[in-house]
Amino acid sequence: MTDLSTTAASCGCECACNSSSEAELAAGLDAIIGEYRDKPGGLIPALQTAQALFGYLPETVIRKIADGFGKPVSEVAGVVTFYSFFTLHPRGKFVVRVCLGTACYVRGGKEVLDAFKKKLEIDVGETTPDRMFSLEVGRCFGACGMAPVVMVNDDVHQRVKPALVGEMVNQILSGTVAAKVKENA
Ligand code: FES
Repeated sequence: MTDLSTTAASCGCECACNSSSEAELAAGLDAIIGEYRDKPGGLIPALQTAQALFGYLPETVIRKIADGFGKPVSEVAGVVTFYSFFTLHPRGKFVVRVCLGTACYVRGGKEVLDAFKKKLEIDVGETTPDRMFSLEVGRCFGACGMAPVVMVNDDVHQRVKPALVGEMVNQILSGTVAAKVKENA
């Protein structure tokens, strides 16, 4: 039997916010499948909603969605890996996305990314062992005039300087820099 309790979204803290039961998660997933399986183009919104429920898309969830939609697991897994907004792994409490679009790249986006890699000691696509930070890249957040741009969860940080990345991370952790906590992080 699939143990969905081990794939629940977790904020990484000791509170009860990660305590959704296996039965609740399974029921939620069944409801998502039931809502979308007969809708044209329903697979992607089903995956998005499932990701919101679990915090990411573990293999068990992908298999159940594939079953529900009557599609091969390989097809559903292919959709998940194609779109960058899907993740197969739990994300950190703070998801740092460094823009590498043209404007940001030429104004130091790569150096900003390298500074985050060094400070967090992780590579793109990875999460710190304490589940506090995940590091990702983006391709233009629509704020090119303020390049280089970094998003931390839903907050946009403009004209980010590599030399100040370490301080920025410390301020995020201390709560003195805006960074909304994702509900399902
Ligand atoms: S290229 Fe970075 S915000 Fe547009």
